[in-house]
Amino acid sequence: MRAVTQNKYGDSSVLTISDVARPEISSDEVLIEVHAAGLDRGTEHLMTGLPLLVRLAGFGVLRPKQPVLGLDVAGVVVAVGESVTRFNIGDEVFGIASGSFAEFAAASAEKLALKPANITFEQAAVPTVSGITALQALTDVGRIEAGQRVLVVGASGGVGSFAVQLAVALGATVDGVAGTGNLKLVTSLGSEAVYDHRSTDIADISSRYDLILDVGGRNPVGKLRSLLTSEGTLVIVGGEDGNRLTGGIGRQVGAVALSPFVGHRLTGVISTEHYSFIERLAEYLEAGSVVPAIGARFTLDRAIDAVRLMETGGVAGKTAIVVKADHAN
Ligand SMILES: NC(=O)c1ccc[n+]([C@@H]2O[C@H](COP(=O)([O-])OP(=O)(O)OC[C@H]3O[C@@H](n4cnc5c(N)ncnc54)[C@H](OP(=O)(O)O)[C@@H]3O)[C@@H](O)[C@H]2O)c1
Repeated sequence: MRAVTQNKYGDSSVLTISDVARPEISSDEVLIEVHAAGLDRGTEHLMTGLPLLVRLAGFGVLRPKQPVLGLDVAGVVVAVGESVTRFNIGDEVFGIASGSFAEFAAASAEKLALKPANITFEQAAVPTVSGITALQALTDVGRIEAGQRVLVVGASGGVGSFAVQLAVALGATVDGVAGTGNLKLVTSLGSEAVYDHRSTDIADISSRYDLILDVGGRNPVGKLRSLLTSEGTLVIVGGEDGNRLTGGIGRQVGAVALSPFVGHRLTGVISTEHYSFIERLAEYLEAGSVVPAIGARFTLDRAIDAVRLMETGGVAGKTAIVVKADHAN
């Protein structure tokens, strides 16, 4: 089968389009004929092996254990492991499959849900990694309530484009922070005020928020706290350009350590990849209250260009990799 592969860590120059064997499945996995895949920052981290903590987390110290790139997937089940009870051959599914930038991918049944019938494979290929992170950050961690004011810092990206729509669907009033070229996108997702991080220091925002999701820009915790109401909550999701070893996870650790001593609740999120969250996300996709913002689409043969686009920061929302051309739209 055709696949996007790498045999060492590095930037997109380590990637090649290769012919490789179809993956074998274990008893708790299914084999998916991939119709489309999605690109996210996590996939880039697994490609580069940075921050180095990624390698120590079991993905391969010297080289990637999984030579095929990609996480987000949508496709059709073509084989089922003997202990899998939730899926049958022919089911249309979406979720997370390590090695999704390929014609076939093996996935744990625990990381898949049935694809809502009203969305395309391409639309189903991009929401899982980013969408379940946004959902968990807003609900289980951020404890969002209807009527609250929410600020999403990094509202135009993968996590942010889902966070804005989910927060609106959950009854919040949402403002966003994004780059100059993406302000209109964030408005179209349901955000009221949108601030340009290239021209506005967030400390100058005059509104105050019950909940802030910090997804981009790595602003200091003190600056983010200055935008919270007296009992507001800050949830740190991530941000690029931290240090090589930990990616700067110290910001999250510092916020959690400070939290008991201040009126604000300061916390972080590490998303849990489980179908219960994917099924919750599917309800919003089915209802149409969340529509994946696909800013770019590439065929599998051009998937390396997709990664290059992400490296240069040129993505608005999500990028889809269309594997079966008959399902491109
Ligand atoms: N904790 C977890 O479990 C988890 C899960 C998923 C992702 N993450 C992490 O979360 C981060 C975001 O992921 P993503 O997929 O959403 O990335 P992404 O698609 O690259 O989006 C990044 C967002 O940050 C914005 N941004 C860039 N510079 C900024 C600045 N100086 N101030 C404010 N906003 C800025 C971007 O805006 P423009 O592009 O419009 O400039 C964009 O909206 C990454 O670090 C990722 O590794 C963590």
